[in-house]
Amino acid sequence: MRVLITGGAGFIGSNIAFALQDEYPDAKVYILDNFSSGHFKNLIGFKGEVITGDIRDKALWDELRKRLSFDVVYHEAAITDTTVTDQKLMMEVNADSFRYILDSALEWNAKVIYASSAGVYGNTPPPMVEDRGLEPENVYGFSKLMMDHIAQDYMERYPELRIVGFRYFNVYGPRESYKGKTASMIYQLAVKMMHKQRPRIFKWGEQKRDFVYIKDVVKANLLALEKELSGIFNIATGVARSFNEIIDILNRELGTNLETEYFDCPYDFYQEHTQADISRARKELGYEPDFSLEEGIRDYLKYIKA
Ligand SMILES: NC(=O)c1ccc[n+]([C@@H]2O[C@H](COP(=O)([O-])OP(=O)(O)OC[C@H]3O[C@@H](n4cnc5c(N)ncnc54)[C@H](O)[C@@H]3O)[C@@H](O)[C@H]2O)c1
Repeated sequence: MRVLITGGAGFIGSNIAFALQDEYPDAKVYILDNFSSGHFKNLIGFKGEVITGDIRDKALWDELRKRLSFDVVYHEAAITDTTVTDQKLMMEVNADSFRYILDSALEWNAKVIYASSAGVYGNTPPPMVEDRGLEPENVYGFSKLMMDHIAQDYMERYPELRIVGFRYFNVYGPRESYKGKTASMIYQLAVKMMHKQRPRIFKWGEQKRDFVYIKDVVKANLLALEKELSGIFNIATGVARSFNEIIDILNRELGTNLETEYFDCPYDFYQEHTQADISRARKELGYEPDFSLEEGIRDYLKYIKA
């Protein structure tokens, strides 16, 4: 099996790369990344090859089609900073380049498993179901929705092509630290609190998110590899938890009693409450999350401490 992972130096992509290395030791894994938000340190121990390049570069895809072929393409590369407001840039990187990837997959007859986002739902009422409430609040969410439209068009035009889109909710876990300020709040709060600093969050900490642990996200990606299906799926836990709850769990796990400091939210496109309906992923993919927020944080703290 030959696998290409775009964005493989990033958080989710590198975790997929290591899972493939463990579960499919005979697979030949290539990573394509421009190292804009990824980091080589995420790939220490990776046995495959890295191609340094930009997914927007059409000539690069032409060259890849000539020289290589793949059975599976995991597409994780994207501008992942949801506060970026440059619409042209966001659309070119996240949405337009997706067509090059799908055209290449067509030629290779490769399965495509790509990253969409819960950002497509904006502030529509939870629980978020795949076919409704598609009202992104920012251009990041819009670019992901346009990726889903492109994918759906290819699914219709080429039913033999296998395309799986994953709308990840808030993912946290090992190998996210190089994302800096865009790393999960769980990571940011954990690091602060481990240094005995007071946690700081937007007023009044009751905004809720469906936080999903990276090991469950990897599990979904491996299921998609094994299953013969196409479609778009929410990947989450199905449970919404507040930022105040994260701080309570961290205080408990770290043996601290740090008081929260609240400040005003500066964004007018902030999601207030995300919570996925994961019944489609359960039914069609056989996906079942293994980690509650408590279990995920406990597991993650072992890595952060190390
Ligand atoms: N982490 C989350 O909570 C979350 C939630 C929803 C969706 N997603 C999606 O999952 C995917 C992976 O996100 P992540 O959290 O691992 O982020 P990340 O920033 O760690 O990974 C993105 C990777 O893509 C690379 N990249 C960016 N632009 C590129 C370009 N033009 N050409 C080549 N490589 C490029 C970066 O260098 C990085 O390695 C993204 O598509 C993201 O939108 C993530």
